[in-house]
Amino acid sequence: MAERPAALLRARDLTVVLGGVTVLDRLSLEILPGLRTVVLGANGAGKSVTLRALHGLVPPASGTVEWQGGRAPRQAMVFQRPVMLRRSALANVAYGLAVNGVDGEARDRRAREAIAKVGLEAIAHRPARVLSGGEQQRLALARAWALEPAILFLDEPTASLDPGAAGEVERIVAAIAAEGKRIVMTTHNLGQARRLADEIVFIHQGRVAEQTPADRFFAEPQSQHARAFLKGELPWT
Ligand SMILES: Nc1ncnc2c1ncn2[C@@H]1O[C@H](COP(=O)(O)OP(=O)(O)OP(=O)(O)O)[C@@H](O)[C@H]1O
Ligand SMILES: [Mg+2]
Repeated sequence: MAERPAALLRARDLTVVLGGVTVLDRLSLEILPGLRTVVLGANGAGKSVTLRALHGLVPPASGTVEWQGGRAPRQAMVFQRPVMLRRSALANVAYGLAVNGVDGEARDRRAREAIAKVGLEAIAHRPARVLSGGEQQRLALARAWALEPAILFLDEPTASLDPGAAGEVERIVAAIAAEGKRIVMTTHNLGQARRLADEIVFIHQGRVAEQTPADRFFAEPQSQHARAFLKGELPWT
């Protein structure tokens, strides 16, 4: 039998309490190397909190997040509404690198390369805050990509974009994954989940209801809650 690869990341019994409410309830999952994971679930299920907890932005009340080798790799996160500094698109990417200890010529080169990879060269010197929503999202991806993260968390990166802009973002996510970076993302767009996911993590009320290869998830979801969700029947929590 082929040996299972060691998990890049293992969350065990993560419980997160926010404002006195248990929003993650002993959530466990494993992120294996080399796959693209899409986290699905109804509004309020705990998808965003899960990503934030895995990225270390929300401390768990109990449970653990363990990284392969005992050390968190370089990681980045892109949010639905990325925050841009009041400076040029290129300078936003360069700043992200500087904060992560990349300076001088290497910083400028990597910033220019990342801007080119997301197709924003022509507007690299425009103030980031005047860019359209789709351009800002591509800029946020460039800022994350420039860091060369081993794992990239994306929380609804296309939620407020029109289909054309969302398609551009999908192509960029696929290109980042093709470089071997681990993608863990949420979306409400099931078409996008089918296009991008190798596996689905389905969250219901702060727990993982199932973690299933994407083909199988869409053909025959294993959990009752995922079946209801795919039929559009999952009640709001
Ligand atoms: N800072 C907070 N204080 C209190 N409750 C919070 C806080 N942040 C999130 N929650 C609650 O935690 C639950 C999970 O939130 P989360 O944002 O992870 O949901 P989600 O699955 O990402 O939903 P959506 O699909 O709407 O983005 C929700 O009930 C939310 O109201
Ligand atoms: Mg969310």
